[in-house]
Amino acid sequence: MDKAGLIRAAIENLPNSYAPYSRFHVSAALLCRDGTVYTGFNIENAAYTPTVCAERSAFFRAVNEGKREFEAIAVCGGRDGVITDYCAPCGVCRQVMKEFCGPDFLVIMAKSEEDYIERTLDGLLPLSFGAETLR
Ligand code: THU
Repeated sequence: MDKAGLIRAAIENLPNSYAPYSRFHVSAALLCRDGTVYTGFNIENAAYTPTVCAERSAFFRAVNEGKREFEAIAVCGGRDGVITDYCAPCGVCRQVMKEFCGPDFLVIMAKSEEDYIERTLDGLLPLSFGAETLR
């Protein structure tokens, strides 16, 4: 799947986001190396801390299905589900990406299929802590 298709998958998934507290809706579409795509959205909670981000929702769905190799993730979001800016992954989600992805994993932050910025995981999380640190 190309970048535009991955972004489209993220944008189409955005209305499903469950964000009644912050009203900030986020959606992600994760491309596995085998070509499959897993979407995810943020799921908030009245107790706040159980909230899970869109990126981690997508990753955990994919990892639960046995996927371990990933190419790229498209992320979009905005207040009341209206995309007005690029939405960058939070630090916790970057660390989850680090667990399963190499430095060249691509993070696409999109306003639309044509308007997006992209960074490698190494660009978003330099000097990271990972499995190799523990060896
Ligand atoms: N959120 C995400 O889904 N992904 C991020 O990387 C940043 C934050 C969500 C969590 C919460 O539901 C809302 O955005 C406001 O923080």
